[in-house]
Amino acid sequence: NSQIKPLVAGNWKMNGHRAQLATFAQMCRGVGPALAKSVDVMICPPATLIYSLAAAAVGERIAVGAQDCHAAASGAHTGDLSAEMLADCGARAVILGHSERRADHGETDRSVNGKALAAWRAGLTAIICVGETEAERKAGRAVEVVSGQLAGSVPEGARSDNTVIAYEPVWAIGTGLTPTADDVEEMHREIRSRLCASFGDHGKDMRILYGGSVKPGNAKELMAVANVNGALVGGASLKTDDFLGILDAYR
Ligand code: G3P
Repeated sequence: NSQIKPLVAGNWKMNGHRAQLATFAQMCRGVGPALAKSVDVMICPPATLIYSLAAAAVGERIAVGAQDCHAAASGAHTGDLSAEMLADCGARAVILGHSERRADHGETDRSVNGKALAAWRAGLTAIICVGETEAERKAGRAVEVVSGQLAGSVPEGARSDNTVIAYEPVWAIGTGLTPTADDVEEMHREIRSRLCASFGDHGKDMRILYGGSVKPGNAKELMAVANVNGALVGGASLKTDDFLGILDAYR
C-alpha cells in the first residue's frame, strides 16, 4: 500500500443542514499538516451544502466532493446537476454508482460509465462504487459481480489521477457488519489485477477504497489490508470524533 497515498472520503448521503458547517469546520481543525501528508481527506455532503463547505475548505486540508452527477453538461433535466455545476461550486470529485443510487434510481453500469466520463470532462475525480449484495456473496458470485461492475462502469482511459474505485459490499453498508480481512484482501487483489489488466500502470496506482461500516475501531485493521488505499465512510463521517478517529489510523 505504501506508494499510493490513501484517501479517506466521508459520504454524508442525505444528511446535513447548514448547521453542519460547524461540524465541517471542526473536522478541518482536526486535520493538521502532518496528517494531511499521510492521507488525503474529503467530505461529500449533499449537493445543497457543496458550495458552503467548499468555501469553508479554502486553505484547509479537506477537499469537498459530490454524491452524483448527470452525464450531460446542461439541458432539460429537471432536478439534475451536471458535473460542471458541481465543479463550479467547488467540488473536486464525485461519488458515482453508489449501491443506494443503483437500487433507488435504477443506475446501471452503463449509466455510471457515462457519468464518469462527465466527471472527467468537468475535471472531477470519479469515485466509482462497486459491491455485491448478500445474496450474491452467499451464492459465491461476489468476485464475478464486482468484476462485471468494474468492466461496465469504469470507462476506457481511466487514470490513477482521475478515478478512484470504492469496493462497498452492499450487506456491510450501515449494518455494522464487515467482511473478514481475508475477504477484503481477496476482493481488493481481484480488483487490482483487473485494473492493471485494463489500465496498465494507471491500474497499478489507482486507489481502491473499502467502504461499509468503517469505524474508528476497525479502521486500522482495514487499512493494513493489501491493496486497501483508504476508506469511503458513511455514518461515521457525520460526527467529528468518529471521522477523526478513523483518520487516526493513518497517522
Ligand atoms: O459510501 C459509504 C457508505 O455506503 C458506507 O456507509 O454507514 O456503512 O459507513 P456506512
